[in-house]
Amino acid sequence: MIEHLDFAQASDEDRRGLYEVVAAWAVEDTPGKKKPPYAACVARWETRDELGFEPPRFVVAREDGKIVGYAQVQVSEAEANAHLTIATVVVLPEHRRRGIGTALLRAMPSLMNGQTVIESWSVIKGNPGEQFAAARGFRVITSMTRQRLALTELPEVGEPPPGYELVTWKGAAPDEFVEAYVEGLNAIADAPFGETTFDHAHNTVESIRREEAEADADRWVVLLLHKGDVAGVTVVERDSTVPTVAEQFHTVVLPAHRGKGLGRLIKARMLHNLSGVETIYTRTSSQNEHMLRVNHSLGYTDTYTYMAVQAKIADLQP
Ligand SMILES: CC(C)(COP(=O)(O)OP(=O)(O)OC[C@H]1O[C@@H](n2cnc3c(N)ncnc32)[C@H](O)[C@@H]1OP(=O)(O)O)[C@@H](O)C(=O)NCCC(=O)NCCS
Repeated sequence: MIEHLDFAQASDEDRRGLYEVVAAWAVEDTPGKKKPPYAACVARWETRDELGFEPPRFVVAREDGKIVGYAQVQVSEAEANAHLTIATVVVLPEHRRRGIGTALLRAMPSLMNGQTVIESWSVIKGNPGEQFAAARGFRVITSMTRQRLALTELPEVGEPPPGYELVTWKGAAPDEFVEAYVEGLNAIADAPFGETTFDHAHNTVESIRREEAEADADRWVVLLLHKGDVAGVTVVERDSTVPTVAEQFHTVVLPAHRGKGLGRLIKARMLHNLSGVETIYTRTSSQNEHMLRVNHSLGYTDTYTYMAVQAKIADLQP
């Protein structure tokens, strides 16, 4: 049986049921790995994500009332991403290869409002998801490398070259820098993300202010200015449920300023700001050699590779 589930209204049992499905997936290939904390999953399902996508909408598959699989879709209010749904399908291992994944996928359009493209950004290479995606008509559009840094020693931060200045803050952007910050974030548009249709460059002062107002975790920013104009930016956010863990998001050095070691400089400076953080995760396109190299030089190690896949709704295999 496939049915919609509104997470905000769901019973405690159904919330736990969804969690059990995602937790089984999180540990299925890694013996000894711990399940993610329940509160962390709930937080992700109740809030807008860091790319501005709304909290997910769900369809679930049940057997004898118990949730054995789900599909989630996320849509964005940003005009630039109005065509796009970010989706995930997960089925409990012991219920696979019986058509449940396919049934959940078919039910997805009923959660959407007119989007024409589905992308999933969580297909791990060599896992069943890869074959499932291929069998159902998705194509691979990029691959991403997940990296991890145990923050034991802080790297040295050199002085910025003449003409450059570093500004840092935690929480809301100061009014005098918010426009430069938005411009810096939007410059990520030319980072390599394969053939995604996702538009990263839709931030506005209003959208940033709204995100800041909704944020339930610390956010640190390092902004690099050159004679008052933005030259680079990097953002880290503390995990809202595990305060010793953080995620390194957008890092950009604008084209005119590349090749001067400024990417490493802003990331190294950032590491000095993160009070209480012990572990940082980040993700970078596997083709983005420069960023991978910068991260390695700061002590990040590669953990796994995952892929993004894409299909037009119209092209999905039945
Ligand atoms: C991917 C997943 C959702 C598939 O669920 P499922 O209920 O087993 O899917 P279906 O039974 O509908 O499979 C449909 C087709 O996909 C292909 N497929 C699925 N799993 C496969 C596997 N392990 N090996 C080879 N082909 C596979 C087959 O062509 C299958 O048809 P068939 O069984 O008639 O041969 C499930 O394996 C899962 O939860 N994996 C972990 C989460 C994940 O990786 N999700 C993808 C990211 S969104």
